Amino acid sequence: MSAASQRTRVLTGITTTGTPHLGNYVGAIKPAIAASQDPSVQSYYFLADLHALIKCQDPRRVQESRLEIAATWLALGLDTDNAIFYRQSDIPEIPELTWMLSCVCAKGLMNRAHAYKAAVAENEAAGNQDPDKGITMGLFGYPVLMAADILMFNAHQVPVGRDQIQHIEMARDIGGRFNHLYKGEFFTLPEAVVDDDVAVLGGLDGRKMSKSYNNTIPLFVSEKKLLKLVRKIKTNSLEPGEPKDPEGCTLFQIYSAFATREEREAMRSEYANGIGWGEVKNRLFEHLDAQLREPRERYQALMEDPGHIESVLLKGAERARAEAAPFMDKLRQAAGLGRFI
Ligand code: TRP
Repeated sequence: MSAASQRTRVLTGITTTGTPHLGNYVGAIKPAIAASQDPSVQSYYFLADLHALIKCQDPRRVQESRLEIAATWLALGLDTDNAIFYRQSDIPEIPELTWMLSCVCAKGLMNRAHAYKAAVAENEAAGNQDPDKGITMGLFGYPVLMAADILMFNAHQVPVGRDQIQHIEMARDIGGRFNHLYKGEFFTLPEAVVDDDVAVLGGLDGRKMSKSYNNTIPLFVSEKKLLKLVRKIKTNSLEPGEPKDPEGCTLFQIYSAFATREEREAMRSEYANGIGWGEVKNRLFEHLDAQLREPRERYQALMEDPGHIESVLLKGAERARAEAAPFMDKLRQAAGLGRFI
């Protein structure tokens, strides 16, 4: 076995339906970029644009989000010589594997998927006659596509949020079933990696920062817009001079996620000393802006050069397909779809 194939393979996908925000950066992008610099790891990061079609049928939004996410990861320093960075839709072997896996995946397993169950529950709560109203086969089979993403590259570890653990378990289940039916160790069974220490940031209204709540602070908005958004973050009505509690405070939490220990402790004392909310917001803005200024400039330059991004992604796809195509041949053969000679 070559040294490369013995490395731990870490894989994760980013659904391309939104604009990256501070919460995405702290929770997923920053740790992923750091992990990609570890020479003992082979990382696979991809734009899950086939998954995007499940939630979003606005072609402009999907197209824009793909470019924004790619530009964001590159601007933040993803080393694409080391990590394999590609678009899911550039790898035709993935939908092909999805089909093969669909044919060994129990329908009952998909009935138990959280996203599908939530959609059914919503229909029932709304009193709809048809519990499957508005539910596409894409949504229903979503975990099979995700299993194909992961099993295709025999990932050992899949860093995800808590809500995705079930999907990794399903990938193990489906991969194990294929191995058993076709009598071989075709697939490595992946493990979910959930980092509980990573901060989950609050958004403008104090709920978790999420595009579904429309309460995000996008990473690379202009300085002016950043200030405006920081000023919008909800606080309580304590006056300057009154001591404030940093625990559970969205401003403190965002500040902390971007601060050193010393900076965080200094801010904690300011809270105890009764710093005013306006002043906390000014400091948070200054702090974020200082850290985001440089990558923001790189991001803007990248957004103006989509040709460069395209070429980086095509190179990533070529590397990914160099693994996926021969592996798919092997799987076809195992299932009785090999060549005659
Ligand atoms: N479903 C994941 C999400 O919504 C995105 C995703 C697609 C993914 N394919 C994947 C994550 C494979 C990890 C591995 O967050």
